[in-house]
Amino acid sequence: MVKIAPSLLSCDFTKLQEEVKKLEESGVDYLHFDVMDGQFVPNISFGLPILEQLRQITHLPIDSHLMIANPEVFVGQFADAGSDIITVHLEATPHIHRVLQMIRQHDKKAGVTINPGTNVNLLDPILSEVDLVLVMTVNPGFGGQSFIEGMLEKISYLDDYRKANGLSYEIEVDGGVNAETAALCRERGADVLVAGSYFFKHDDYHEPVRRLRGE
Ligand code: DX5
Ligand code: ZN
Repeated sequence: MVKIAPSLLSCDFTKLQEEVKKLEESGVDYLHFDVMDGQFVPNISFGLPILEQLRQITHLPIDSHLMIANPEVFVGQFADAGSDIITVHLEATPHIHRVLQMIRQHDKKAGVTINPGTNVNLLDPILSEVDLVLVMTVNPGFGGQSFIEGMLEKISYLDDYRKANGLSYEIEVDGGVNAETAALCRERGADVLVAGSYFFKHDDYHEPVRRLRGE
């Protein structure tokens, strides 16, 4: 069954604890935590102090998506603050292999991600070093954008590649995921679906969980 990772970017931050409780009760698998630095992406979101507090109120795995330049400077702090998975952008560092090693040295799951304009083959040399690959289906920086269908081929490529090479990384998809686009992602072999604006427009979170799983 596909895993569901709501993007907290779209939740009600005035009620963070209530939101987390509702998410836990609805059966989601990860909490997706979008960190933006105003440099790598043209927006600023939230960072370490919020993550530390979030860690204190949930046992759900926290899936940190670092949309920040030079992530090697910060991955240690994001590990210590309570992330379970740390995903970094290939485009954000000249030393992607080193950053992934750093994440694993902190005993965290290492994820890598690429922008829509980046060729998926560029990941080949590091696919044996990752626990998760995140396929961006919008240009990162904002919630509420439309799913770019041309990115579905990247999911198929990554699914074929792991089968052919005996690898077991998870394939996660992020951006414009709703009930319809989720079905396309599941068909291609996605394991984890991130959803922000679609998810949080519901009052009862059991509903988007069911629909995104195709139940
Ligand atoms: C985009 C973020 C996403 C975003 C998804 O930069 O990485 O996680 O919150 O939001 P929706 O589901 O609204 O596209
Ligand atoms: Zn994200």
